[in-house]
Amino acid sequence: MLSWDEEVAPAAPMAPATPAMPAINTRMPLPELAAIVAPIKSVEAAPAEVARRVNAADKRIINGQTDVNQLVPFKYKWAWDKYLAGCANHWMPQEINMQRDIELWKSPNGLTEDERRLVKRNLGFFVTADSLAANNIVLGTYRHITAPECRQYLLRQAFEEAIHTHAYQYIVESLGLDEAEIFNAYNEVESIRDKDQFLIPFINALTDPEFKTGTMETDQTLLKSLIVFACLMEGLFFYVGFTQILALGRQNKMMGAAEQYQYILRDESMHCNFGIDLINTIKMENPHLWTATFRDEIKSLFLRAVELEYRYAEDTMPRGVLGLNAPMFKGYLRFIANRRAQQIGLDTLFPQEENPFPWMSEMIDLKKERNFFETRVIEYQTGGALNWE
Ligand SMILES: [Fe+2]
Ligand SMILES: [Fe+2]
Repeated sequence: MLSWDEEVAPAAPMAPATPAMPAINTRMPLPELAAIVAPIKSVEAAPAEVARRVNAADKRIINGQTDVNQLVPFKYKWAWDKYLAGCANHWMPQEINMQRDIELWKSPNGLTEDERRLVKRNLGFFVTADSLAANNIVLGTYRHITAPECRQYLLRQAFEEAIHTHAYQYIVESLGLDEAEIFNAYNEVESIRDKDQFLIPFINALTDPEFKTGTMETDQTLLKSLIVFACLMEGLFFYVGFTQILALGRQNKMMGAAEQYQYILRDESMHCNFGIDLINTIKMENPHLWTATFRDEIKSLFLRAVELEYRYAEDTMPRGVLGLNAPMFKGYLRFIANRRAQQIGLDTLFPQEENPFPWMSEMIDLKKERNFFETRVIEYQTGGALNWE
């Protein structure tokens, strides 16, 4: 493990995007309304006879036959509790003052060139990442989940993804960045594009109007997509970016942006935990899906994701910056990948990795921890401004 101050040899400059590079097909197939409604079995089946009352024991996360319109009786209380916790953590980007960030960004000596590159590449990934996450929920995952408690959480999560996209847009607008450059980065910057290209097939699988669960193959496809999203996108692909901006905040730079990211990190941490609970419950209800071949496939996806995120770290930090450098992130990504693997019942992938950024864990829960910006949340007031002391 390299130390914080160790310099890294400059990476080879990335080749600029060329017009020959094929654009990501961002126009994911929008299913016809009928195709969205069709899989809702209870609506399809609307019987002429008196419907049987819902028994909680009959509910299932996937392929359930109970009425998805009846939230209660609860079976998956953990999902309902996460929905309530998500609502209690509600926040909006405009509540955070960006004035100091604007002054710092506009000041010629406010930030180094490496710090500016880091901020722009960072936003270049995030400005579209949460739209991918939102589309994946709304057009894909939601209709395949038959537990109404889980659907309730997914509705909350979808709105939080919209808030995150709003927050990143708000930062771009506040700093007066080149919007075309930032919002096109996922097509034009190779390290960002590769991460998104890795994710898109797993989104497309679920948004395909023809896709239906109920067979070994399609149930495994759904489970794989859920694992990719919870463990690798929300649980791994966000972490280089979060650490970078929070590291700026720890040095009293870009404090408004860092505060936005801190709220987003808290939300994403819950999305990731919800996804892991969802995955583990599906596994428990459908143990036949968890075959050795399937586990091997998941492991290779984990290894590929670590590699892609490491390349993104190298691209955003070609030299050491803010006391951070890409090799430190190799250890961090391995540490996180081990944790995600364990959380879904896989063996750890890398031997004995330790967390080089223990302060990141403290960033996740704003309510309990004094944060690094010398301010402290006293109480969150839904619909009002944050109180800081
Ligand atoms: Fe998000
Ligand atoms: Fe998320």
